[in-house]
Amino acid sequence: MCGIVAYVGYRNAVRVCIQGLAELEYRGYDASGIVFVANGTLEVVKELGRPENLRKKFVDGLPNSRIAIAHNRWATHGVNNIENAHPHSDCEGIIFLAHNGIIENACGLRENLSLRDHRFKSTTDTEIIAHLIEESNKVVGLEEAVRTVLAGISGSYALVIISKKEPEKIIAARNGSSLWLGMGNGEFFVASEPSAMLAFTKSALPLVDGDIAVIENGSLVISDARGERVHREFRNVTWNVEEAKREGYAHYTLKEIFQGPEAVGNSIFDRIKEGRPACADDSKLREKIRRARRIVSSACGTALYSLELGKYFIEQYAKLPVEVEIASEFYTKNSIIDVGDVFLTVSQSGETLDTLEALRLAQSKGAFSVSIVNKMGTVIPSISDIAIFQNIGREVGVASTKSFLSQAAILLLLSLEFAKIRETLVEDMEEILQGLKNVPALMRKVLAQSENVRALSTQYSHFHNFLYLGRKFNLPVAFEGALKLKELSYVHAEAYGAGEMKHGPLALIDKDFPTMAIAPRDSVYEKVISNIEEIKTRGGPLIAIATEGDERIGRLADHVLYIPETHEALSPFLTASILQLFAYYVALDRGCDIDTPRNLAKSITVA
Ligand code: AGP
Repeated sequence: MCGIVAYVGYRNAVRVCIQGLAELEYRGYDASGIVFVANGTLEVVKELGRPENLRKKFVDGLPNSRIAIAHNRWATHGVNNIENAHPHSDCEGIIFLAHNGIIENACGLRENLSLRDHRFKSTTDTEIIAHLIEESNKVVGLEEAVRTVLAGISGSYALVIISKKEPEKIIAARNGSSLWLGMGNGEFFVASEPSAMLAFTKSALPLVDGDIAVIENGSLVISDARGERVHREFRNVTWNVEEAKREGYAHYTLKEIFQGPEAVGNSIFDRIKEGRPACADDSKLREKIRRARRIVSSACGTALYSLELGKYFIEQYAKLPVEVEIASEFYTKNSIIDVGDVFLTVSQSGETLDTLEALRLAQSKGAFSVSIVNKMGTVIPSISDIAIFQNIGREVGVASTKSFLSQAAILLLLSLEFAKIRETLVEDMEEILQGLKNVPALMRKVLAQSENVRALSTQYSHFHNFLYLGRKFNLPVAFEGALKLKELSYVHAEAYGAGEMKHGPLALIDKDFPTMAIAPRDSVYEKVISNIEEIKTRGGPLIAIATEGDERIGRLADHVLYIPETHEALSPFLTASILQLFAYYVALDRGCDIDTPRNLAKSITVA
């Protein structure tokens, strides 16, 4: 998740942009850069780290420019270095642009451009757009060139573009990544979100997917995806800066729950090629997985439950045994692991000390290590033999939400990749991969019922205990859902295998002890139904998560939340989304400090 700021008007454009980047720092601060018009030409300055580092590059003071484009980078595609910092330009240094999003067909486009002798300075997907505009702009005007190029791009983008040939013009375009315009007295702003411009103007408008805005000589023209000119109303943004950073969501946690679909899309981006999983294309890994007797895995908290779900995927599809261990136990007991094992870990922050110690123990015993991590440049990926990045941008809320879904998506792809390596036949691989590509759309459908979830959560927010039940792929989801409820709302929640209830926990059930039962129509549905009947005969309140159209469960449960029909291995993405919403709204109703729950921190660097 990167930050974009652009300005044209009477103020010092470099100052406005760097100040705006500082407001967007939470979105990403691996590197920042700016291109501005000075003495009739374009000048570019870039620096690693925070926007303050960029400001310090202007040792003789900020140049007096009236138009500039600037960018904060959260490294996803392309390591974090100066060359990969935005803005990016074409071969001749005429077109400059900054981008937030992911270009899905970047590889093919880059190959074709290279065949036409384009020379690349970075390894980013963004730079490709500048070269494409360069080519098209030799034949048609800049706006037409931008439109033509964007029509040939698949993926998400928020873009700001400037050309040395037309230095008074800024072009802004959005598709799938938010981009706002701001207007002042004879001045215009472009930013990833309103917080970057609230210090200068409260008059803002969000561009719509497909929009292209052209700002020149104090005028603004917006055209839509069809190329038709449209009028969009500027509104008076009443948010304060913090609210603007949340783009109107009440909490980062809610914003990040709703970013779940985009997170899954970004995590699987470019990792399914010609209908095959392609997320760990490494010869050493292939050799290790081919020979491995088992996988030993270890992590903490939500990441641990991701691995529990990954265990089901890998054992179901690659037929490879997976041990899952709590990291703080794994490295304190004399764990059995050796050179024949592959060690798999997951960590959103890449810094969790318990997980790091487990990784170090595994490596000390000769195991080959694979880590799935969100934050680049952190310890865990830097010492792993293989690091797979989640590419979902920063997760601000202490409770892990979009990150769990992202990790699950990568683990599902890995399970199919391992099956391919071990030549284990997965008959429904194509159905799973096609379904996985469609998961973000189904998740959006689930999230669209958030008001139903909210209404239900207020009926259950007074309870002090909860039981979460699941089976097979949804047992790890039950554990993750219970953790969300605990850490967001401080309500005690216990997760259990639905079939395990009768061996003791059933004694807990009475009218004051509700149950959340995850019961999609899958291979264990009938078993879960009988477990639910055990709950109901003891008078326990029961919420079921069920597949759309399932009327039978409606006769059993007190309340039902529905998910769309999907392959059973994909239902966790939908059930987990509902449980995240449920925990959020219970916490909201209980007046909890949702983004920063008591006693907790986002990254636990103590053991
Ligand atoms: C989950 O919501 C919590 N924030 C916590 O359990 C977290 O998952 C755990 O500390 C591991 O963090 P990591 O993924 O950054 O390693």
